[in-house]
Amino acid sequence: MTKLQRFGVSVETDLLDKFDEFIRERNYQNRSEALRDLMREALVREQWKEDETIAGAIAFVYDHHHGHLVSHLMDVQHDYFQIIISSQHIHLDHDNCMEIIVAKGPANQIGNLYDAIRSMKGVKHIDLLRSTTGQTL
Ligand code: NI
Repeated sequence: MTKLQRFGVSVETDLLDKFDEFIRERNYQNRSEALRDLMREALVREQWKEDETIAGAIAFVYDHHHGHLVSHLMDVQHDYFQIIISSQHIHLDHDNCMEIIVAKGPANQIGNLYDAIRSMKGVKHIDLLRSTTGQTL
């Protein structure tokens, strides 16, 4: 565990009131823990912008009967085999499938994989979880 350091922050009363309400609603025990999380979130956002090595997950829903979609999805995942750590396929009902791809690698490549899947006809919904390898936080 790294050493803790205290620092003072000046902030408008109105803003601090709103922040206290924000952290109360999220069950934080104190301002420090909430502030640490916000700082980490900002740093992770920066990691994605700077094309650092990051970890993320792509979740998407599609109808597996749709044209050649399943074969296209397979092709693109093989194109990105070097950054895909795992993928999970869930049969949601008779027609709909959900896939969750976990990837680790340059942010730019994960973004490209996300864009490639998102632009495929028949993908009904997709979302990207921008997380981190955790190594520098
Ligand atoms: Ni399925």
